[in-house]
Amino acid sequence: MRIRNDIVIVGAGLAGMRAAIAASEVSRDLSIAIVAKTYPIRCHSVCAEGGTAAVMREGDSFDLHAWDTVKGADFLADQDAVEFFVREMPKEILRLDNWGCPWSRTQDGKIAQRPFGGHSFDRTVFAADRTGFHEVHTLYERMLSYPNIVRFDEYFMTNLVIEDGEVKGLTAIELKTGDIVLFEAKVVIIATGGAGRLFGFTTYSHQVTGDGLAVAYRAGVPLKDMEFFQFHPTGLIPSGILMTEACRGEGGYLRNSKGERFMEKYAPAKMELAPRDVVARSMWTEILEGRGLESPYGPYIALDLTHLGEERINERLPLIRDAAIKFAGVDPVEEPIPVRPVAHYTMGGIHTNMYCETPVRGLYAAGEAACVSIHGANRLGSNSTAECLVFGRVAGERAAEYALKKSYYPSTDFLKEEEKRINSLFREGEESAYEIKAELNRTMDENLWIFRNEDGMAEAVKKIIELKERYKNVSVADTSKKFNTDLTFALEVGFMLDLAEVVAIGALKRRESRGAHYRTDYPKRDDERWLKHTLAYYSKDGPIFEYLPVTITKWQPVERTY
Ligand code: FUM
Repeated sequence: MRIRNDIVIVGAGLAGMRAAIAASEVSRDLSIAIVAKTYPIRCHSVCAEGGTAAVMREGDSFDLHAWDTVKGADFLADQDAVEFFVREMPKEILRLDNWGCPWSRTQDGKIAQRPFGGHSFDRTVFAADRTGFHEVHTLYERMLSYPNIVRFDEYFMTNLVIEDGEVKGLTAIELKTGDIVLFEAKVVIIATGGAGRLFGFTTYSHQVTGDGLAVAYRAGVPLKDMEFFQFHPTGLIPSGILMTEACRGEGGYLRNSKGERFMEKYAPAKMELAPRDVVARSMWTEILEGRGLESPYGPYIALDLTHLGEERINERLPLIRDAAIKFAGVDPVEEPIPVRPVAHYTMGGIHTNMYCETPVRGLYAAGEAACVSIHGANRLGSNSTAECLVFGRVAGERAAEYALKKSYYPSTDFLKEEEKRINSLFREGEESAYEIKAELNRTMDENLWIFRNEDGMAEAVKKIIELKERYKNVSVADTSKKFNTDLTFALEVGFMLDLAEVVAIGALKRRESRGAHYRTDYPKRDDERWLKHTLAYYSKDGPIFEYLPVTITKWQPVERTY
């Protein structure tokens, strides 16, 4: 089957929906399709809890937000993109306010803001601790009022169609029938989120498998800075569910087995509200040095909210209380929550400029799937949902302007080739995608975690190459057509293996420590050699790496202390 639209957006999270609305506002004559493997209101963006950063008050400034972001990024962010981002952000907060987003308010009715890690002003706008959920629902409802946006829910993207350096569409499996569909388009926007399920202990939903990144990479689009992966300090054990940074923003403490607020040693000025890379490393150090608390699920750190009181916890952190009770049997009003650092965010992504354009004409990327780059080596909390709003809009507007100037391109025999490729997975093979995924998660958790070194990363690269070899022999046992999750799982694992290889080799090559990429064998930042972005290009023999200068506008790198 072929379906033709002017613009196809892949992914129905915050960035995808924001892009669709923006494109539709450029022209109601454009037909805009959203293709996504889940329903919009089940996208992973609903898991964003703590808030969205924006300059909204006197005393704060664009320069201060930009500086916090650049310093937090350990100077790997492109500063022109950061300056643009911070200026655009307040408009997005007000737009969502007009569209009905139930932001939390101060007593006098202003949009409330809370402190967040690495920000030197209380600038995180929030809706209790369900910010992403409310943002998603606001955009979803708004989107329903544009008749030129059509949705293809539960379609799983398998490939991009690119010819002569220009995008022509994509292929996807319609999950309810198993049919492979060719979506022809003048423009494609990838907004599929990050790749967090590369790791086993993670805050990500099971659906976040980096599909958009892998499909773009295989089609020749470079991935940028993939070695930078964020570990959020506070994942609930044993599940990994996010215990929002807002717990600390609202005044929560981190304590070791001696009851000490150990952040005093590591970041005396910012304490629990230092940036995530600093807090996660400090927690891990406490655990490695034997000052973690013991549990059947391994050592942990105590996230103590007991001094905040029931009323404040119920008002500001209701989801956290609920999740801690249901998933750890702990009521945070009465006792500390057991937490441990957890894989949380993909700083890298599809290489774009600050207009969300990739090197392929007509192909755009936005949100976590893209690397614009405003987060550099370490993202500040609450800059992610913000990025989805600002760059979702930019991608939608740019894509619409491009689409208005283009005619359709004839598509090729791509559909038949794709059907053949997918059907080949129903072969007789000895390998299980489930086992490969488990082994991949194990090696990532062991060797590409918070503290990295040459031997561990080399071990991971060896393992990933072995798993890629074994993957050639994977078979999909379930041959049925409808909702064949065995098939989509196998495809996802294929995507993740390619991405893991880029992460691991990129990390091995980068012989310095910067932001979330911390090497015990190269513990210092090395601006002379490594103040540059990594670009990884696909080849059938593994990734090929190039490097790109970082854009510096106002802020020269300095030592990063908190
Ligand atoms: O902790 C949190 O609420 C996460 C926010 C973020 O990743 O920006």
